[in-house]
Amino acid sequence: MKTAQRIQSIPPYLFAEIDKKKEEAIKRGVDIINLGIGDPDQPTPNNIIEKLNESVKSPNTHNYPPYEGTAEFKQAVAHWYKERFSVNLDPHHEVMALIGSKEGIAHIFLAFIDPGDFSLIPDPGYPVYKTGTLFSNGFPYIMPLLEENDFLPNLDEIDEEIAQRAKLMFINYPNNPTAAIADKSFYEKVVKFAKKYDILICHDFAYSEMVFDDYKANSFLEVEGAKDVGIEFHSLSKTYNMTGWRIGFAVGNKEAISALSIIKTNTDSGIFKAIQQAGVEALTGPQNNIEKMNQIYTKRRDVIINGLNKLGWNLKPNKATFYVWIPTLKNMSSIEFTNLLLEKTGIIVTPGIGYGEYGEGYIRIALTVDEKRLEEALNRIKNSGVLQE
Ligand SMILES: Cc1ncc(COP(=O)(O)O)c(C=O)c1O
Repeated sequence: MKTAQRIQSIPPYLFAEIDKKKEEAIKRGVDIINLGIGDPDQPTPNNIIEKLNESVKSPNTHNYPPYEGTAEFKQAVAHWYKERFSVNLDPHHEVMALIGSKEGIAHIFLAFIDPGDFSLIPDPGYPVYKTGTLFSNGFPYIMPLLEENDFLPNLDEIDEEIAQRAKLMFINYPNNPTAAIADKSFYEKVVKFAKKYDILICHDFAYSEMVFDDYKANSFLEVEGAKDVGIEFHSLSKTYNMTGWRIGFAVGNKEAISALSIIKTNTDSGIFKAIQQAGVEALTGPQNNIEKMNQIYTKRRDVIINGLNKLGWNLKPNKATFYVWIPTLKNMSSIEFTNLLLEKTGIIVTPGIGYGEYGEGYIRIALTVDEKRLEEALNRIKNSGVLQE
């Protein structure tokens, strides 16, 4: 039996490796503090759970759902976009339900990349942008996200010949893993670039609502001309604590949505209607849990930023996402530092190299444990000798 080349070209999924190390440490009896995975620790709001309970009992939800999402779900998305960003969307042609945004992100490459085509992807970045390109036999072209550029790609540095051959570009703000944000002027530059080189822009907007200190994220689609060139991927996962429910959506350029739909109609058969009804409740029901969560994350962020700064780091508080992107100590590689932390303190973090070569020299921590546990993590770092290594 011989697997396809594309399987061999994919590095092991980063979080699977971390999980393995965690299991080994647990077996050794270590009290693990897991700051490695970006999965909200708070439950899905009750109104959404109640809606699922009710919907699941109705036989009308038990058959195959429409491929592209129910009319009600797409309508709810269009309504939410209008309310939140003042962006008009045609629910029939410019909205599509996804089995979590990861599913759509992975599939968009199949819709746009032919063998030998280039994708322009951020590094560090969500790993699926690279693997999605490789699965389509394309070439990922790296756009470095550097601290000195506020973790925005420098579009002027993209090789002219590559830009001519590129089919799509991914951007992601608020950003995983750097927690950076982007403003409309950046999106305007991106639209100009996309028009010049005739490429599709894919904006991964999974963290749109996870924002702090009065910051509000702009949608890429708010910028003039954006819908001519781009789509936005969105998720209910982080916004409504629904990671396990697997529901998200893509919105924007109708040709791109239609191309994605051709891939999807041939690979999956939509999302359980009861989950879509719960999704409608999430998008159209009370929104106060978002603010409540953001207050929780703000407090946790402050604990970590203040605590690490007392230990010698020099970090600015991030305005969005439940991640903190931290330089390693004493020029240690991200893997060395991650392993040292696990060994000496029982803390799991994610090594920056897992997000690409420009993630080297950093680790990412996720603010997905409570303040007490974060204080405990800081104490362990202080008392473990890690700082003296
Ligand atoms: C940047 C980014 N995009 C997309 C996703 C996928 O989210 P989901 O598939 O749960 O919608 C994640 C999940 O962690 C993410 O960090």
